[in-house]
Amino acid sequence: MNIGVLASGSGTNLQAIMEACEKGEIAGRVAVVISDREEAFALKRAAKKGIPAHFLNPKGYKDREAYDGAAVALLQEYRVEVVALAGFMRLVSPYFVRMYPNKIMNIHPALLPAFPGTHGVEDALAYGVKVSGCTVHFVDEGLDTGPIILQAAVEVKDDDTAESLHQRIHKEEYRLYPRALDLFARGKIQLEGRRCIIHE
Ligand code: GAR
Repeated sequence: MNIGVLASGSGTNLQAIMEACEKGEIAGRVAVVISDREEAFALKRAAKKGIPAHFLNPKGYKDREAYDGAAVALLQEYRVEVVALAGFMRLVSPYFVRMYPNKIMNIHPALLPAFPGTHGVEDALAYGVKVSGCTVHFVDEGLDTGPIILQAAVEVKDDDTAESLHQRIHKEEYRLYPRALDLFARGKIQLEGRRCIIHE
């Protein structure tokens, strides 16, 4: 299975996915990495592994659909079958979602539907929850609203900062995202309405 990864930042989830592919823990390979930020370290991580890495500059496109059109064209060029958003901080357009129905995954650093958006860790901490975690879900047209594939819980400690909590959430993300992609690659995820039934 050809995986296309979209990332805006450091790319530690991308790293976990690439390494899991190398170890045979995902029945697939990362075919291309795309970033909306030229300085994203994710691009360097991909290049280091010899994986095509493309910076797609949002400034070069008139709107979100035009940008996503260019992203989809790239993904098609690399025959991508599943798209993994890994710290990709742009909302994808309905057009993008329609091009890959239930074939786009996202990882979110909170237990959805709690604390969607770009500050999941900070929002959970400020709210005072005792347990947070991470969620891998399919992407639909809403903001972090698609069907949930896997979740992992992480305890919030009294002396946590956003950084320390995020660090422990990251650990779970590196386990969860490769697992979700492997389940998908092996056809083990069945969608029943909003529910993802895992056949293992
Ligand atoms: C991850 O923790 C991911 O859950 C989060 O960004 C981080 C990216 O880290 N995503 C979101 O907040 C999406 N709303 P990484 O670049 O090191 O993989």
